[in-house]
Amino acid sequence: MRVGFVGTGVIAAAMVEALSGRGHDLLVSSRNAATAADLAQRFDDVRVLDNPDVVSRADVVFLCLMADVARDVLAALPWRGDQSVISVMADLPLVQLTALCAPASDIALTIPLSSITAGRSVLPCHPDSDALRALFGESDTIIPVATEAGLNAHFVASALSAPILAMMQTGAGWLADQTGDSKAAEAYVAGVFAGFMRQMSVQGADFETLLEGLATEGGLNATLLAQIAETGAPDALVQGMVGLQARLGI
Ligand SMILES: NC(=O)c1ccc[n+]([C@@H]2O[C@H](COP(=O)([O-])OP(=O)(O)OC[C@H]3O[C@@H](n4cnc5c(N)ncnc54)[C@H](OP(=O)(O)O)[C@@H]3O)[C@@H](O)[C@H]2O)c1
Repeated sequence: MRVGFVGTGVIAAAMVEALSGRGHDLLVSSRNAATAADLAQRFDDVRVLDNPDVVSRADVVFLCLMADVARDVLAALPWRGDQSVISVMADLPLVQLTALCAPASDIALTIPLSSITAGRSVLPCHPDSDALRALFGESDTIIPVATEAGLNAHFVASALSAPILAMMQTGAGWLADQTGDSKAAEAYVAGVFAGFMRQMSVQGADFETLLEGLATEGGLNATLLAQIAETGAPDALVQGMVGLQARLGI
């Protein structure tokens, strides 16, 4: 398949890395120039073209721009009715994309994260997309979401990634201060959570079950959890998500 990327930034680079070596022709736009050049140098199946060439040649085009840039540049590109368009942009609704990319009409929204380079990531999408399934269905889990508002709520939930990873980093940093081995400290903290995540994916456990297993009264986990709750951090998390929800107009 010829797979195009308009906007060659952080998330496009991760998707290109994920798709490289799978028999596709990967066409990336020339901005960001340094990222595009780096991808072309690292992967034989990557070519750097300008935006119109990416769009005119690709069977599937991923839109990886900031939304305000997309509003300025997309309408002038040579879209075709027989190609698929997949946007990863949080704040450009389908109705606007449909107008900007006409006559292309097979248009979907999805939410990749940079962990897609390792496979087994989750890709919520709306509407369901044969093109996305063809490209990532074997390596990753496609989650069709019934409504655009529901997909946008997944965008909000995807923003849990940085706060939770940052908390894990803080905890691993504290451990490293005690042991003097930061690599081992990160591996330990990551391993603890990987174990719980496996329990969910392999055994079907839910968060409540995992927390019950850590709720021994007066135990270390219960004590730290209560202290964190007293700071108001869980409420701040929900308030932050509500703020993002308002920003996305859900
Ligand atoms: N990062 C993530 O984890 C993530 C996850 C899901 C969705 N998203 C969404 O993906 C989009 C891109 O995010 P990002 O993190 O990849 O941002 P980014 O690294 O800033 O990438 C945006 C790219 O667009 C390029 N660009 C600007 N004007 C352009 C033009 N006229 N034609 C072609 N390309 C142009 C920029 O190039 P210059 O640097 O040369 O300006 C930059 O490389 C956003 O809408 C974001 O919400 C990101």
